[in-house]
Amino acid sequence: MSDRAPPIVLGIETSCDETAAAIVTGDRIVLAEPVLSQIEEHQAYGGVVPEIAARAHLEHLPGLIARAIREAGIVFDALDAVAGTGGPGLIGGVHVGVMTAKAIASVHDLPFLAINHLEGHALSVRLVDEDVAFPYLLLLVSGGHCQLLSVDGVGRYRRLGTTLDDAAGECFDKVAKMLGLGFPGGPAVERAAKTGDSARFELPRPMRGRAGCDFSFSGLKTAVRLAGEALPPGALGEKDVADLCASFQAAAVDVMADRCANAMKMFEAKSERPAFVAAGGVAANAAVRLRLEELAGENGFRFLAPPPRLCTDNAAMIAWAGIERLKLGLTDSLDFKPRPRWPLDAAAG
Ligand SMILES: Nc1ncnc2c1ncn2[C@@H]1O[C@H](COP(=O)(O)OP(=O)(O)OP(=O)(O)O)[C@@H](O)[C@H]1O
Ligand SMILES: [Mg+2]
Repeated sequence: MSDRAPPIVLGIETSCDETAAAIVTGDRIVLAEPVLSQIEEHQAYGGVVPEIAARAHLEHLPGLIARAIREAGIVFDALDAVAGTGGPGLIGGVHVGVMTAKAIASVHDLPFLAINHLEGHALSVRLVDEDVAFPYLLLLVSGGHCQLLSVDGVGRYRRLGTTLDDAAGECFDKVAKMLGLGFPGGPAVERAAKTGDSARFELPRPMRGRAGCDFSFSGLKTAVRLAGEALPPGALGEKDVADLCASFQAAAVDVMADRCANAMKMFEAKSERPAFVAAGGVAANAAVRLRLEELAGENGFRFLAPPPRLCTDNAAMIAWAGIERLKLGLTDSLDFKPRPRWPLDAAAG
């Protein structure tokens, strides 16, 4: 790697149902980021089927990487490193991505970086905003996680709170499924909620008012189901679905805001107006963003969230995390083993 030119890194993401490759430079230019969503493959099952996901990654990843190289207008030899999601996630898909990244790194004699998918989400904001200094407070809200963390540096995370049961995105997905809105659920619930009355159904706000900043969503999910079942027998009407979605989303947003307010008090700020960052798929939700932005303002924080395409799974965040690690010399050896479980804060488990 030259001392002067910003590094160029290929990122590969295969941990769930998005097959993605991206080429990103050290000066924050995303040269290419083709994504192939497997929504159609999984739709009939109402959720991601691991075996189908792994086979689809195997089928599509090589073509997608070739496309990324072509769209970026570079050759493989112009790369400075290859970064692949090394976990956590569905292990079959992670194997496909890791093996592909290792093979390219090995053939072209490049450093290989095994990226924690959650670190990809956690650092994604620094790809779009160069002024986000460590430490910052992070709400990581995705399909598999709902955590509040102090991001103290690359590879340095302290967990302040986590969900005791479901992740927020999982709850959006389950509500969508029970209301017949299909998969993936988050965007469908957000769309339906837009025309709904959020005051029609009185739903619980689990954990609100409690000390600390842990979350719980399973009671809320059950309450949505019971509210739906309490309606007169027969199919739920469009208005009922919209009102249930709006009431659910309002409750979920209230819970998130309450927990984040506590985290802001627990966070050890090192600057006058620290950053409060939301990342992960649920952070693509406009109602969530709006409320968190208000909350940040009230508590002396600057609110930041990556654009929606960088909130849900993508390879640009993996390439960027690779760049951050490469700059610190944190490369991995080719005998790296994929990690289906890989907490950001090892001490918190
Ligand atoms: N607009 C939205 N509103 C609410 N939820 C959303 C929205 N868009 C996406 N989501 C939710 O975000 C989740 C997907 O996010 P992401 O791709 O980051 O999760 P994941 O990779 O499956 O989980 P993890 O990152 O924890 O391993 C899904 O649960 C989806 O329903
Ligand atoms: Mg994710």
